[in-house]
Amino acid sequence: MQNFDYQTPTRLIFGKDAIHSLPEVMSHYGKRVLLTYGGGSIKKIGLYAKVKELLADKEIYELPGIEPNPKYNPSVLEGVRICKEKHIDVILAVGGGSVLDCTKAIAAGAKYDGEPWDLISGKVPTKEALPFIDILTLAATGSEYDSGAVISRTETNDKVGYESPSLFPAVSILDPTYTFTVSARQTAAGTADAMNHVIEQYFTGDTTLLNDGFCESELRSLMANVKVALAHPDDYRARAELMLDCTYGCNGILSLGNSASGWPCHAMEHALSAYYGITHGVGLAILTPRWMKHILNEKTLPRFVKYGINVFGIDKNLPEKEIAEKAIDATYAFFESIGLPMHLKEVGIDESRLKEMAHHVAVNEGVDHAWAPLREEDVYEIYQASL
Ligand code: NZQ
Ligand code: ZN
Repeated sequence: MQNFDYQTPTRLIFGKDAIHSLPEVMSHYGKRVLLTYGGGSIKKIGLYAKVKELLADKEIYELPGIEPNPKYNPSVLEGVRICKEKHIDVILAVGGGSVLDCTKAIAAGAKYDGEPWDLISGKVPTKEALPFIDILTLAATGSEYDSGAVISRTETNDKVGYESPSLFPAVSILDPTYTFTVSARQTAAGTADAMNHVIEQYFTGDTTLLNDGFCESELRSLMANVKVALAHPDDYRARAELMLDCTYGCNGILSLGNSASGWPCHAMEHALSAYYGITHGVGLAILTPRWMKHILNEKTLPRFVKYGINVFGIDKNLPEKEIAEKAIDATYAFFESIGLPMHLKEVGIDESRLKEMAHHVAVNEGVDHAWAPLREEDVYEIYQASL
């Protein structure tokens, strides 16, 4: 078992009507608030009006229009500009992972004198950030409970993930009822994203029984609850379980003591989103079974066997290789069953830039991880198999 040093400072306020805590939460900060949000879903569900009503005593500035796969230019730069010019005390992010991630980059950029990209690219370590709170409206990324942010820079085809302890939200308000309106496609994509977060941590060399159990249970919960949520979008129980599964998925708690993972599917997916702007969870659903097939060998076989038996209930008396192959097929079939496209061609990606993307991944993402190392050729083969 590996050593670790772990702290998650984020306060979680979970459940129906959790928004009633907002005035108390915000009372710990100053008067000047930057409200960040996306393309308008929060207005449709009445959340924007509710936030304005609850924060009537605050001086609110707004940054609307944050896009999925949030952009450095204009969103991060504009947010940093407002924070500096208006001397913002605290940022309130209302939306999905893209709004949260953009807000994290803004919060850090606001406390930095140079170009915010220095922080995102890792050239300069992120040491501090403005405090920020979020009200989550989409279960997927786990950004509400982790210290990472992923920002895209269109002109260089970069989609960069970065981390710092100062990027944890101070408070995350999680009311599953806000996710009732998330479309079937985004609900499925969010689940695929969270499933992949678990898979990235599960498929590594040294794991514990405890963590394996956490991960297997998360995967079973995600798979069971997304089916209910797709059939009945306003099923509170299913939306609530999905939300908490996603919240736990990405902050490292599922792999404390495990050997590190290289998060290879994320590395490969970030290039797809950067070059083609596709939805992150969709890219992951397409890549994951192909990556699994690619890395299946004598060394990795026991992990696939355990995964197949404990997550999909495959007969443990079958030959090990057969269990592993069935597990990979079941992964594919599950993503397909929740309505996700399973080929790159279906999301507008053809052969033309696969080599370039594989090179980009190999150079920028470090996928040469010890347990199941990938070289540039491997990434290219996985992309090709995903067409
Ligand atoms: O922009 P609005 O109008 O709000 O619409 C959004 C958006 O179009 C919509 N939506 C959100 N809440 C809704 C809703 N529609 C109806 N009802 C609601 N209640 O959903 C669309 C997608 O939103 P987005 O925030 O992009 O989705 P998601 O939460 O999946 O975030 C994806 C981003 O997070 C990054 C991804 O790479 C991607 O950029 N990730 C962040 C991570 C992190 N910080 O730890 C880890 C992940 O692996 C991931 O990389
Ligand atoms: Zn992800």
